[in-house]
Amino acid sequence: MSKNVIFCYSGSGNCLDFAKNIAKGLGDTDIIMMRKAPVKTDVRDAERVGFIVPCYGGGLPGDVESFLGSIRISPDAYTFAVGQYAGYLGCGLHKIDKQFKLDLWTGLSHQCSCIWLFPHQLMLPPVTPKMAQKRSERMAKRLVKSILAGEKSKKAPPKMGLNALESKVWPKLAVGKAKKFAVTDACIGCHQCEKLCPKGNIRFVDGKPTFGTNCIQCLSCLQYCPKEAITLTEKSVKREHYHNPNVSAAELMESIIHIY
Ligand SMILES: Cc1cc2nc3c(=O)[nH]c(=O)nc-3n(C[C@H](O)[C@H](O)[C@H](O)COP(=O)(O)O)c2cc1C
Repeated sequence: MSKNVIFCYSGSGNCLDFAKNIAKGLGDTDIIMMRKAPVKTDVRDAERVGFIVPCYGGGLPGDVESFLGSIRISPDAYTFAVGQYAGYLGCGLHKIDKQFKLDLWTGLSHQCSCIWLFPHQLMLPPVTPKMAQKRSERMAKRLVKSILAGEKSKKAPPKMGLNALESKVWPKLAVGKAKKFAVTDACIGCHQCEKLCPKGNIRFVDGKPTFGTNCIQCLSCLQYCPKEAITLTEKSVKREHYHNPNVSAAELMESIIHIY
C-alpha cells in the first residue's frame, strides 16, 4: 500500500490534474478513481488520505456519495479534501467531512465543463483559462507544503443547505438531459466515448454511439470526443469544448494511477 492515497473523481480532467500535482509533491501516492466504484476501499495502511472532487449540481458528482460509505481509513491517518467548482463550492466537502472528519480542506475555482449550462470560460470570479490552470498549479504546490506540515483547517467545511437541496434534484435533471445527446456525421466510430462512459450508458449501433439515460453528466464522452461529434442541445454545438490540457482520456479510464 502507498503511503498516500487520493480518492478522485474527474469528468473533464481538472480534478485529476490537481490530484496528480499533489501526488507528485507528496511522492508514493495511489490516486484511486471514483468515476466507477473504487477498486480499492480499504486504505487503513495509508498515512495520508485525500479526496479531490468537483462540485456537480451543488454537491458530489456521480455516485461518489454512495462510494464514501465503503471507504475505510485509519483513525490515525491525516485527511484532506479539495473541492473544485466554477462558481460555488457546494455541499460536497461537508458530506466528506461528516464521514471522515477532515484535517484540511480547501476550494478551488476552475474551468466549468458543463457545456449545455455555461461556456467553460465562465467562472466566479472571472479569470482566463490560462490563469485558472496556473492558479490550480500554484495552489497544488501550496497545499503539498500544508499537507506535509500536517496543517489543520480552523473550521469544518460549510453545510451549504441550499446546495444540498440542489444536489438532490440534480440526478433527475442529468437523466432528463441525457435524452438530448446526439451524434453528428463527424463521428469516426472510434468507440472512445463508449469506453470512457463510467455507467455503460453508451452503446454502438451500426457503427455510431447511442445514448441511454443512465447518465451522471461527467460529460467526458462529449468533452474528449476527438471530432467533437457528440452534442447535448444546440448550445453545445456553438460552445467551445473543454478538457484539462494535462489529462488524457486514457488516464480517465484508469482505476488506480500510481505516482512515485
Ligand atoms: C455536470 C456538471 C455540473 C456542474 N455543476 C457545478 C455547480 O453546481 N457549481 C459549480 O460551481 N460548478 C459546477 N460545475 C463545474 C465543475 O465543478 C468544474 O468545472 C470542475 O473544475 C470540474 O472538474 P473535473 O474537470 O475534474 O470534472 C459543474 C460541471 C459539470 C460538468
